[in-house]
Amino acid sequence: MPRAAAVTAYGGPETIVILDLPIRDPKPREIVVRVLAAGVNLVDTLFRDGYLATGPFPLVLGSDFAGVVTVVGSEVTEFATGDEVYGYKLLGNGTYAEYVTVDADLAARKPANLSFAEAAAVPCAGLVAYDALANTLALQPAETVVIGAASGGVGHFAVQIAKALGAVVAATAHPDRARFVEDLGADLVVDQYGDVAGAVRAAYPGGVDTGFPTVAPIENAVRDAVRDGGRITWINGRTGPSLERGITGAETNGSRGTRMLDQLTALFESGAVHTVHLERRYPLAEARQAQLDVSSGHVRGKLVIDVDEA
Ligand SMILES: NC(=O)c1ccc[n+]([C@@H]2O[C@H](COP(=O)([O-])OP(=O)(O)OC[C@H]3O[C@@H](n4cnc5c(N)ncnc54)[C@H](OP(=O)(O)O)[C@@H]3O)[C@@H](O)[C@H]2O)c1
Repeated sequence: MPRAAAVTAYGGPETIVILDLPIRDPKPREIVVRVLAAGVNLVDTLFRDGYLATGPFPLVLGSDFAGVVTVVGSEVTEFATGDEVYGYKLLGNGTYAEYVTVDADLAARKPANLSFAEAAAVPCAGLVAYDALANTLALQPAETVVIGAASGGVGHFAVQIAKALGAVVAATAHPDRARFVEDLGADLVVDQYGDVAGAVRAAYPGGVDTGFPTVAPIENAVRDAVRDGGRITWINGRTGPSLERGITGAETNGSRGTRMLDQLTALFESGAVHTVHLERRYPLAEARQAQLDVSSGHVRGKLVIDVDEA
């Protein structure tokens, strides 16, 4: 029987166990995917510890996936057996598993120029980055944007997507990671543990047009770098920075539309978005360690579980 990393009760990383679980038959609009790689996200730990309580048990963890379609439901016309896909599944049994049964609407054709491990790292972080910049901020060519925590999972995609949209990008990062963020295409990198607004305003007098702090601790610093009357967005689930000086703000909920994955696929295949940085890869048996590491809040790029170790 296929293996999966699951919990039988909510708890810490030590509750994760490898179980043999049957493949669930697809409903008419579902597909079965043989998972080759699963991205690791902070949200995965919230399903494990019960902060986002879903059940029932055993509950397979994981939300991002990349793999190959093995079965299609009777009403699925957009995929066929053998298609290479990637996607993002939040509810029910997850993707740290050799097989996952998932709604066809939550999957998209995998970018042809990405490996399965790279593709599995994209959906959760890439979707929220794309949604924030292209939809919520509606970034226009030549506009300036400051992206906070630009070496992180969301941030490293955000820098590249903002450049692909034609923006001028100021980014914040730990100084040790400045070169990494410059190589992603940032026009300016400032120390995120220093005077962010001062450094950004020195380069862009009056401040930048827009801001996307990707993590909470840097929300106010990013807001202070945005010009009077500018725009800011933050990731849903937080209150966001207090708004002042005519700055308008809205939250972004990137998980609302996996159809946006088609836009991301196009950006990868054109080369406009070019880097999926995999900081560390784990076999399925090390899912505990993967969740411990993602909880640190200091990952550069992404972590991925190679589900198929063969
Ligand atoms: N709603 C959604 O759809 C959705 C999707 C994806 C992510 N998220 C959320 O978005 C957030 C970002 O996700 P992520 O995957 O990018 O996280 P991550 O990979 O863990 O990124 C953490 C980043 O935050 C930086 N950082 C840590 N402490 C900081 C501080 N005090 N000041 C400034 N920067 C700091 C780190 O920089 P250094 O370690 O280099 O200093 C690192 O670059 C998380 O809260 C995640 O849960 C939501």
